Amino acid sequence: MLKGKNILIGITGSIAAYKTPILVRLLKKEGANVKVVMTKCATDFVTPLTLSTLSQQPVLIEPYDKVDGSWHSHVEWGRWADLFIVAPASANTLAKMANGIADNLLSTCYLAAKCPVFFAPAMDLDMFHHPTTAKNINTLLSYGNFLIEPQTGELASGLIGAGRMEEPEVILEVISDFFNKKKGLQNKNVLITAGPTFEAIDPVRFIGNHSSGKMGYALAEEAANRGAIVTLISGPVHIGINNPDIKVINITSAAEMKTQCDKAFDENDIIIMTAAVADYTPENPAPEKIKKKESMELKLKLTDDILASMGKKKKQGQFLVGFALETENEKSNALTKLNNKNLNMIVLNSLKDKGAGFGTDTNKVTMLFPDKSEIVTDTLPKLKIAGMILDAIVNRS
Ligand code: CTP
Repeated sequence: MLKGKNILIGITGSIAAYKTPILVRLLKKEGANVKVVMTKCATDFVTPLTLSTLSQQPVLIEPYDKVDGSWHSHVEWGRWADLFIVAPASANTLAKMANGIADNLLSTCYLAAKCPVFFAPAMDLDMFHHPTTAKNINTLLSYGNFLIEPQTGELASGLIGAGRMEEPEVILEVISDFFNKKKGLQNKNVLITAGPTFEAIDPVRFIGNHSSGKMGYALAEEAANRGAIVTLISGPVHIGINNPDIKVINITSAAEMKTQCDKAFDENDIIIMTAAVADYTPENPAPEKIKKKESMELKLKLTDDILASMGKKKKQGQFLVGFALETENEKSNALTKLNNKNLNMIVLNSLKDKGAGFGTDTNKVTMLFPDKSEIVTDTLPKLKIAGMILDAIVNRS
């Protein structure tokens, strides 16, 4: 049941728009409150009157009312929604969403939305397979949006291939599953660390690593989507987050990460350490910029192992997850860490796997557990991997 859920539907210019009134009707039957925002082009395929009749709400197209001049607030609509779905999502609108172009009410609603966003592409197969569309879809996935894959079949052009918008009944199922899944982590406090740490050599230089933070941010998004209250302690990364259920604490160094982790540890039920914490830090960072000289030596000292210290003080009921990035003897090294750091699970990344590890939008992992069982994933978008990791945690905690 979707009783009381606020669902905002965006309709763009595609022949598949004829299916969206059915989706509105199905959602209403499930008890959801539905509002519709359309692009001007979408009104050539399906009428606003049909949609306002089915949704029992005014349908918005323009940013303001042409008769009385009043403003239609994209911010208000974006914030009203518990879920925003763009169906059908044309190649043009996907490109706008992926690049922050806000030239109509639908795209401004997308930018203002604080809720999970789904998109169901519909277009001709060549458009769907064009590298630009693939890139835009990947960008949207990397922002934590959800793709409802188009189906393969006969297209309006008469061609046969991928590009048919998924059927409304299946879209309803995806939305219902999403809200049901949410219950899995309801009222759970989840602490996630992400990204690299930077260890100062002097005021302008540091020792860092290639971690992009994408895996940790995907875990934070997915945990919040499942109802968790998330604290994300993040090293310096280039990812924004737009979810009111995620509290982000920005840090720079391993020592700062340790301080914040120590503060947050007790109140969290699940702790996932994805951060690539520096193992060493300069022993005496220079207070002023070090001038160039013939040669120099940098003395490093070990940082505190945050995960190991958490393993030592872990209480009954807390679930502690570590990550391991290995290049050789992968499984046995990861199992040693699982044991030595008193973890409930370790997620092994191998730099040898294509499409896995630093900076990629996809990942392939092996989850290892103290009872020697393991789960191996395919190479999948990081958000999907995040979902599988959280499924494994929920099943075992
Ligand atoms: N980790 C940590 N604090 C550190 C170093 C690592 O909390 N100072 C955590 C990482 O967040 C990760 C796990 O430990 O979850 C594994 O990190 P890794 O560097 O691979 O393991 P180490 O135990 O440092 O071993 P090594 O570098 O020798 O592989």
